[in-house]
Amino acid sequence: MNLLETRQLKKYFGDTHAVDGVDFSVRQGEVLALIGANGAGKTTLVNVISGLLRPDGGTIRFQAVDVTHQSIHDRIKAGIARSFQLVNLFDQLTCLDNVALTVFAREGKTQRLMTLAERDRPVLDEALELLRQFGLEPKARMTAAGLAQGERKLLDVAVAYALRPRLLFLDEPTSGVSTREKAPIMDIITSIVRSGKVTAVIIEHDMDVVFTYSDRIVVMHEGKILADGTPEEIRRNEQVTTTLLGTSAPR
Ligand SMILES: Nc1ncnc2c1ncn2[C@@H]1O[C@H](COP(=O)(O)OP(=O)(O)O)[C@@H](O)[C@H]1O
Ligand SMILES: [Mg+2]
Repeated sequence: MNLLETRQLKKYFGDTHAVDGVDFSVRQGEVLALIGANGAGKTTLVNVISGLLRPDGGTIRFQAVDVTHQSIHDRIKAGIARSFQLVNLFDQLTCLDNVALTVFAREGKTQRLMTLAERDRPVLDEALELLRQFGLEPKARMTAAGLAQGERKLLDVAVAYALRPRLLFLDEPTSGVSTREKAPIMDIITSIVRSGKVTAVIIEHDMDVVFTYSDRIVVMHEGKILADGTPEEIRRNEQVTTTLLGTSAPR
């Protein structure tokens, strides 16, 4: 079953056709990798689906409901969340507060925000449990600014996951971290989304990571979908390997 479906989705920036008539679907329960060269339109596609940008054409259906013109807030309520290529954290707040604030917001407690964050035991317990899942509990009282890059990326994913999404978009969750750190980060993220039965779309550049962790791969090129298939199919797709991956595809 398709959880999300776009039809002829378009987003133009002047002459740049960042998303150019995209039919993109995400199936319930899968971990999907969205790949493509820099500038292919991946982030723009996620921005339009999550409601950060308005499309110039086309439709977006989520759980069979047309959400094309819904606000970001309504889409989050419906179950669409995302993390950012450049992390979106409150640097001066602790890791715990970054997650607790999201839980607060999700529960509709935004007007009380900081004042009660320290006293709302259920919210704090949930935030601590989320930090524990992401391996960040030892850093709970440290400010987000004090974290290493890999930990910042994980915290940003934890903040999005705290919204309890059905569909989670992760925009380059391992960008800026060393090759050595990528696998542990992806292990944590994919085990959480799979055990939580959350459907995930992960934008990622590292092909070893993509082939290791995804059930299906969608390739974007110049605003369009170039290919769509299992890791095995994409690996064997010569158009993809020559135009996008060079010779770096693992065998
Ligand atoms: N806010 C914007 N204003 C103008 N052009 C943009 C904007 N965002 C993205 N673009 C352009 O749209 C294209 C797709 O960008 P993007 O979606 O960020 O690609 P990717 O995430 O695949 O690297 C690029 O040519 C980029 O320069
Ligand atoms: Mg991008």
